[in-house]
Formats: sequence, C-alpha cells, structure tokens
Amino acid sequence: MRTHARRQVLHAVAGSLMLGAAPRILQAKPAALRIGVMLPASGTYAPLGAAILQGMRLALQESGGQWAGRPVEFLTVDDESNPSKAPEHANRLIARDKVDLLIGSVHSGVALGMAKVARESGHLMLIPNAGANALTGSACAPNVFRTSFSNWQTIYPLGKVMADQGIKTAAFLTWKYTAGQEYAEAFAQGFEAHGGKVLTSLTLPFPQLEFGPLLAQIAAARPQAVSCFFSGSGAAKFLLDYARSGLKDKIPLYVTGHTTEGILHALKGEAEGITSVLHYADGLPNAKDKAFRQAWKKVSKLPVDVFAVQGYDTGLVLAQALKATQGDPTAKVMQKALEGIRISSPRGDWVMSKAHNPIQDIYLRQVVGQQNLYKGIAAKALEDPGSNCRLS
Ligand code: PHB
Repeated sequence: MRTHARRQVLHAVAGSLMLGAAPRILQAKPAALRIGVMLPASGTYAPLGAAILQGMRLALQESGGQWAGRPVEFLTVDDESNPSKAPEHANRLIARDKVDLLIGSVHSGVALGMAKVARESGHLMLIPNAGANALTGSACAPNVFRTSFSNWQTIYPLGKVMADQGIKTAAFLTWKYTAGQEYAEAFAQGFEAHGGKVLTSLTLPFPQLEFGPLLAQIAAARPQAVSCFFSGSGAAKFLLDYARSGLKDKIPLYVTGHTTEGILHALKGEAEGITSVLHYADGLPNAKDKAFRQAWKKVSKLPVDVFAVQGYDTGLVLAQALKATQGDPTAKVMQKALEGIRISSPRGDWVMSKAHNPIQDIYLRQVVGQQNLYKGIAAKALEDPGSNCRLS
C-alpha cells in the first residue's frame, strides 16, 4: 500500500479504536485532496482564469465530485497575472494551506515563478495554460507537467498557412513579456522557414491597451499581412481598434488563435474573416467535443473556448493519473502515471511528451460570426521541440 493511503487507514484505525467501534474502519472517509490553484481573477486574463476553473470543476463533477475516491478542495488565489507576487502566493499555498499539489497559471511569468517554488518543494505542478517554452524545455522538471500548449506550438504553423496563401511580408505586434517575445520569435521562425519576411516587430508593455501609435507604424511599414499575440479582454480591444483604424479592410490579420479565442461574443463583426491557428476550434468533427459542449452549457453561460477545454483536460489528467496512483498525489508517484498519459479530449486525443507537454493537432480556423470555425489541420500531432529539457 502506498504511504499516503496507508496513513489514511492508520488514522481511521486509530479513530475507530478510540471510539471502540471496529466496523468504522471500513467506513473511514478518505482525506480531501487539497489543490492550490493560482489563476487570474482580475485584469485582462480574468476571463481565461474563470474558464479554466469552471472547466476543472466540470471534470470533477463528472467524476462524482471525487478523484480516486477522494473529495477535492480547490484553494484558489487571484494571481493578478503579476509575476512578482507568484513565489509568495505559491509558498503560502504550500506552507500555510498545506496543499498536496499546485495548478497554475495563465501568465507565463507567473507560471515560471510558481515552477521555481515547485522545483524546490517537490510538489506536483500542473500548468493549465501558460505557454512559456522553458517550462517544458530548458527549465523542465520531473514534477512539472503542462496540459495546455507551448507558445511555440500555437503560432509556428501559421507561417506555412500564410505562405500557402501567397503572403510574403508581415508585421508582428504583441505585449512585451515572456509569452509575447516567444510568439514573435516562433512566428518569425515559421514564416521565414517558408520564405516570408517580417518587416517590423512591435511591442507595448503588458497589459497596456494603447494600440494607436503601433497601428500607425504598421500602416507605414505596408506589410501584406499583420500577425500578433494578444489574449483575453486586451485581445478584444485590439481587434476593435484594428477594425476601427480602417486597417482591417486593407491588411488581413493572421494570428495565433489566442487572439480570437473566447472574445467573439464581445465584438460585433470586427473580427470577421480573421485566420488563426490553435489546438481547438468551433465545429471540430469529434464526439467528445459535442458531449463537452452540451455539459458546458449546463454549467456556464459563456461560450466554450480553449481555456475551458484546458481546465477540463487538467481535471481529466488528474482523474486518470490519481486513479493509477490510488489517490496518492505526491510528485514522485504521479510522475510515472503522467508521463505518456493519453487524454481523450474535446480538442482531440493528445499524449504527454517526454518533456511533459501535450503532443497535439493544431487546427486552422477562420472567424465566421461568433465562431472560430474549423477549417482543417494546420499541423498534425505537433510536438514542441522541448529544447534542452534534461529529466533524470
Ligand atoms: C502566457 O502568458 O503564456 C499566455 C497567456 C494567455 C494566452 C496564451 C499564453 O492566451
């Protein structure tokens, strides 16, 4: 018997002896799993945090409110997408709240800060969004697993899509922080590998929304297309400003799907026709997705998006791995169950890579009304290069 489970039984035995009632051993309630969750509940990424949490709760609800027979408690913290507070938040969840494992976050900088704490404490950490390449690359760790994507994965395939449509020059625009910088780099890598040229790559500080001056510089550079990485409510503001500036009718947008995901209901056609790539889409030909969307409608008024799916998949991953470890959440035991885990997801089936990142299909999509409509597969079973990941 695993140490954790054994401890629970010993507690139960001690309790029942004190009560002098031997049959209570069989009725002993397993201790609740304490899961520390760091997500943004304020700021531009707040809608992503809400969707991820709701997705996890839905997965838990579908397994009867228990994983491996253990009730589950989520101890949530609003991390404000603020990397400087991440170590303090993660340390508090571990030291004060005595969580068994950590889940987080949306923002790459926050996740990098959390991972540092997790590497020191040895707690299992699951990343339900943040794409920082290093988390499953140069800074990979035996106890850190990602259920979402790497930043590289969700833009690299765009270059081929654009080249196939005859586009030879582009401008890039993003927030200046880890994720934005990685999107700019991987976009250039994919576009240049297919003969394209990035004329200009512009940034503004996260999470600023003053896009006007950058749009003027883009107009002056006269690229054939514009690409960018924005997300959450900031992405909606960008798409609105792009359309209102008059650029949308002159220079088409080709973007990572993060920029058009989860926000179309807040726009009135300003995103119509935009092409994107992402590991999820509306109208996927997949039965698991249809069932998920029906279940989602019962728990949320918001439209389904990739963030909801990532939260849901984080729950599926935990359910499956905890079943294999008989409810033991310690990283050393979970590692074996998580490596190579195969998940049947609304996004399509995916497998955990050696570097602990999903190997998954990346879809081509186009905005039609309020949907990011599935148009085909941009990259089949795409694996992040996981450069310099050494796991002992
Ligand atoms: C990130 O900071 O890694 C990030 C945030 C939001 C996204 C994607 C990546 O939609």
